[in-house]
Amino acid sequence: MNKSAFYQLSYGVYVISTWDKGRATGCTANSAMQITSSPATIAVSINHDNYTNQCIQDTGKFAISILGEHSSPGIIGTFGFKSGKDCNKFDEVEHTVKEYLPVVADACAYIVCEVVDKMETSTHTVFLGKVLDADILKKDDPMTYAYYHNVIKGKSPKNAPTYIE
Ligand SMILES: Cc1cc2nc3c(=O)[nH]c(=O)nc-3n(C[C@H](O)[C@H](O)[C@H](O)COP(=O)(O)O)c2cc1C
Repeated sequence: MNKSAFYQLSYGVYVISTWDKGRATGCTANSAMQITSSPATIAVSINHDNYTNQCIQDTGKFAISILGEHSSPGIIGTFGFKSGKDCNKFDEVEHTVKEYLPVVADACAYIVCEVVDKMETSTHTVFLGKVLDADILKKDDPMTYAYYHNVIKGKSPKNAPTYIE
């Protein structure tokens, strides 16, 4: 199997956020996709070892902050290379609350979802979310995963589903 073929799949770069007993938390993810338009439904894939997974299981809700090319790249690092188990990531990143969920203020758009189903794989939970609210926050081109790798020269850690050793 030539795993480089996987690099030809296209993604965006997102922060998936939720609450941890009243404290905002979340992680960077590339794995978000729209599944249906009516009812609007989105899926995200979150590693079992990510603290965000446990918090989404507990709250039954998550928000997707869609990062733009002009969003601060530091957001990806804060949410993608640290754990909410050990730090308050939103202390470093400004947020706003939409439909009762924390959203990154520097994102270009957001989508808020309620978990309606989930599927377990050996490493990741795929959460299926019914969309409760969505809107544009500012005019920007959404950041693609290719832009993150080729322009920002970013890396993906082990818990990203796209990670290849
Ligand atoms: C560009 C990028 C994409 C990522 N994509 C995912 C993803 O789709 N799913 C996932 O579970 N983790 C993904 N990660 C890894 C998590 O963001 C990372 O493990 C994070 O530290 C987990 O934080 P938490 O323990 O607070 O949940 C990604 C990280 C980066 C930098």
